[in-house]
Amino acid sequence: MTGRKGRIGVVGSNMIDLITYIDRMPRPGETVEAPDFEIGFGGKGANQAVAASRLGSEVVMVTRVGDDLFGPQQVENFRANGIDTTHVRPVPGKASGVAPIFVEASGENSILIVKGANAALMPADVDAAEADLARCDVILMQLEVPLETVYHTVAMAARHGVTTVLNPAPADRALDIGGLAGLTFFTPNESELALLSGMPTETDAHILTAARSLIERGIGQVVVTLGGRGARLVTREAVTPIAPVQVTPVDTTGAGDAFIGGFAHFLAAGLPAAEALGQGARYAAQSITRRGTQKSYATADEFAGFCEAHK
Ligand code: RIB
Repeated sequence: MTGRKGRIGVVGSNMIDLITYIDRMPRPGETVEAPDFEIGFGGKGANQAVAASRLGSEVVMVTRVGDDLFGPQQVENFRANGIDTTHVRPVPGKASGVAPIFVEASGENSILIVKGANAALMPADVDAAEADLARCDVILMQLEVPLETVYHTVAMAARHGVTTVLNPAPADRALDIGGLAGLTFFTPNESELALLSGMPTETDAHILTAARSLIERGIGQVVVTLGGRGARLVTREAVTPIAPVQVTPVDTTGAGDAFIGGFAHFLAAGLPAAEALGQGARYAAQSITRRGTQKSYATADEFAGFCEAHK
């Protein structure tokens, strides 16, 4: 492992997670009682930023918060997690992004998102942060902000030679792969890969063909996440399996973001991509043994303890 402290930029979302722990979902017209509820900080961008920062990376966040009681709380949460908030700005008259989440006893989750202020993160916000983003080792993006902002960030990062990671979640069939030329890592799950490539992803051979079709269209490398089956790092020349880490799930909310934040942290610290992905998978596994989204993300010391116990 390297001791280098990497620098990570996140151009993305923040949300307030309204998490209800349920025995089962109500049917239309039915009311059922749920055993528990928690409110917490979430949003795919903010989650990835917090994960990387807790592991020890220097993190700068580019996001828009709501003009309501949650906006200042989001800023305070970034600060409390050691994240640079120079480019976190409120949107006048706009509500914060919120995410009602339902977690079943199995730990599986279902999520609704209301983008709110995140829909106002524009290419001009990225331009305003360009000098700070250009100094990053890795820039992370997701799809809870306008697509034009994602394309603009990919192009800006490519001009500066900065490594980029786009997590295409939540899936958006309007995403134009042609607008991602120069992207370093693309991290779809199987269903996102099927939607965005227009190809089947039922078998390993399908997954490889679909991932390589995206590489042919200008994407550098594809990391296909497979849930409990781990992940595959697909390049033009090779496929590297990333092993899953077996734990008993308590709450899977935000595990995908823990994976990306952990991957980015170890990549920025100097590990080769496959090793950084292995560490990201371990970090995500630890997160699902705890309740909540950001609340479930370990510090570097807690993660070291988990790795000792899961060699
Ligand atoms: O990936 C989990 C996240 O998705 C939650 O924190 C929720 O806010 C939604 O953005």
